[in-house]
Amino acid sequence: MAVVHENPELFESRKADHIRLSLEDRMQATGASGLDQIELVHEAFPELDFADVTLESSLFSKTIRSPMFVSSMTAGHAGSVNLNLVLATVSEKRNWAMGVGSQRRQLTDPAADAEWTKIRKACSRVRFFGNIGLAQLIRSKVEEIRRLADTLEAEAMFVHANPLQECMQPEGTPQFAGGLKALERLVKELGLPVIVKETGCGFSEPTLRRLNGIGVAAVDVSGLGGTHWGRIEGGRSKAGDPLQRAAETFRDWGVSTVESLLTAKRLETDYDVWASGGVRTGLDAAKLLAMGASMVGLAKPLIEAALEGEEALDARMALLEYELKTAMFCTGSKDLKELQEKIVWRQARK
Ligand SMILES: Cc1cc2nc3c(=O)[nH]c(=O)nc-3n(C[C@H](O)[C@H](O)[C@H](O)COP(=O)(O)O)c2cc1C
Repeated sequence: MAVVHENPELFESRKADHIRLSLEDRMQATGASGLDQIELVHEAFPELDFADVTLESSLFSKTIRSPMFVSSMTAGHAGSVNLNLVLATVSEKRNWAMGVGSQRRQLTDPAADAEWTKIRKACSRVRFFGNIGLAQLIRSKVEEIRRLADTLEAEAMFVHANPLQECMQPEGTPQFAGGLKALERLVKELGLPVIVKETGCGFSEPTLRRLNGIGVAAVDVSGLGGTHWGRIEGGRSKAGDPLQRAAETFRDWGVSTVESLLTAKRLETDYDVWASGGVRTGLDAAKLLAMGASMVGLAKPLIEAALEGEEALDARMALLEYELKTAMFCTGSKDLKELQEKIVWRQARK
């Protein structure tokens, strides 16, 4: 059972549609992340200087300068090389880790490796996470996935689960039978940390429980509240098309980012919990870190800035860092450990 070779033209147009549509406000499940219901508690006497606040933490036994990372986005098509070069260049400069978009194309077209060989040459120090969909993982050998990681010199591999998106995509592959088994095999044999993520619909308690004890390094909850892939796939269909109508029915489907994160923390899982889905400011990131996320990812705001170029992306990342540090300073937290241990968050009283 191998991954099916996809029509290259269809692949190109789908990827271009995804970028174009992801920038539209109606594709965002704004207000559903749960972040508006969380507030950090102000500390008028932080007993710190702002300059002492540090975002440094540890990731896979190495120091990382920012707990924020570029969430997996696009790869493998005509428009992605330049965009990924901008994302990688600025991530390297600011020492953010970067998840790359689905490497599915490389499974059937080795020429697609060139994108990453080129970017890796230009950005030798950036910390990359590879990416493959669960539906493709089920149909691949572990050596094939290892090859994807090797082309990037990736330090971890994301496996994304996106059942709603596959149902709403005209050319979707909603074939997830055997997913947990394929994941367990990957974890055992890959030789790199494996991180499981959603793409904006989050994780329920039973799923978080099933992922416990199988050796995944982290789960990035990628919950409801930001980019919504049911809406985006629906946006690719013509008005009145059954899939467009179905996507409308499922426009708010998912478990919120905050609920997914708090559930995972309550379960005291053996994997680290990362958070993404609707993170738009450094304050959003601070709330998720305070609630126990060890890393926080952003997709839409960073692709939007990257499309404007390196300078715009650098400015956006600098702003995110400044906002996060401000939240830490104003809660009296000099580092991420204190932000988590002091319990500086509560349900909003508004
Ligand atoms: C243009 C675009 C392409 C994406 N492609 C992928 C992908 O290939 N693999 C993946 O795991 N997630 C992909 N995502 C999902 C993001 O990684 C993230 O989980 C989701 O967009 C929620 O984050 P956000 O609200 O900050 O956008 C993509 C997101 C965007 C905006």
